[in-house]
Amino acid sequence: MNPVVAHAITTLRQGVHDARQRGLTVGFVPTMGALHEGHASLIRAARKETGFVVVSIFVNPIQFGPHEDLARYPRPFDKDVALCAEEGTDLLFAPQVETLYPQGFCTAVEVSGLQDVLEGSSRPGHFRGVATVVLKLFNLVSPDRAYFGQKDAQQVRIIQQMMRDLDVPVQVRVCPIVREADGLALSSRNVFLDEAQRKHATVLYRSLVEVRAAIERGERSASVLQRVLTERIKATPGASLDYAALVDADSLQPIDPLRGQVLIALAVKFGATRLIDNLLIQVP
Ligand code: PAF
Repeated sequence: MNPVVAHAITTLRQGVHDARQRGLTVGFVPTMGALHEGHASLIRAARKETGFVVVSIFVNPIQFGPHEDLARYPRPFDKDVALCAEEGTDLLFAPQVETLYPQGFCTAVEVSGLQDVLEGSSRPGHFRGVATVVLKLFNLVSPDRAYFGQKDAQQVRIIQQMMRDLDVPVQVRVCPIVREADGLALSSRNVFLDEAQRKHATVLYRSLVEVRAAIERGERSASVLQRVLTERIKATPGASLDYAALVDADSLQPIDPLRGQVLIALAVKFGATRLIDNLLIQVP
């Protein structure tokens, strides 16, 4: 069945209110659309755990830098509605930009420190935009649970911190990265890769797996492993390394030698298309 599509805040709130009247718990999957199997896995998790599933589709302008891909970000709305219907979404919230950011809007959420490293150092202002819109969406939807993908590991860490610091009463569920058969992490931006770039893009996952295997064999030097990642990317035709990092999963600060929960994170550009991937591992 097609979900109710709400463009207005009042329609969204009425839908959630009616669901609550019926005694249902509310699950929420925030997205920017161009939905793929990764998003479907989040919707399925919400469907399984909650009685009323809300998905938002909003390409959030304030999380894009001035030279980033806001204008060309894919917006296949009808296809997205069909995927939401297939996965059993109850309500699809698809606001206009002016609905979330009316004239005079001037507040932002900053998660200092965590927002400035990795993605944040390459994309200044990105996480301020993410944290701001996620808090707004949480306030609008008021879900019991919200579902995010591990692919955006830093985003997840920042949202968890924001929720802790601002006492946001929503449970966050983090779902595993969904990959193509050859290991490429699903991303709405994969559609921009040409045939050769698509073939070479598997280097992200291959080099992460290689580094994980080295850690399992006993390697503990972050600098040695960072060099391995860097060399693998540099040797790949068409790939240009943005960053390769091994960081403490909680502080997101470099850690050398490796110990505890470690996030291995990569950002690589193929032409104008920027891909990210990561592995989270427990180093004994
Ligand atoms: O991960 C995304 O798609 C976006 O960053 C989010 C969480 C929907 C906020 O715009």
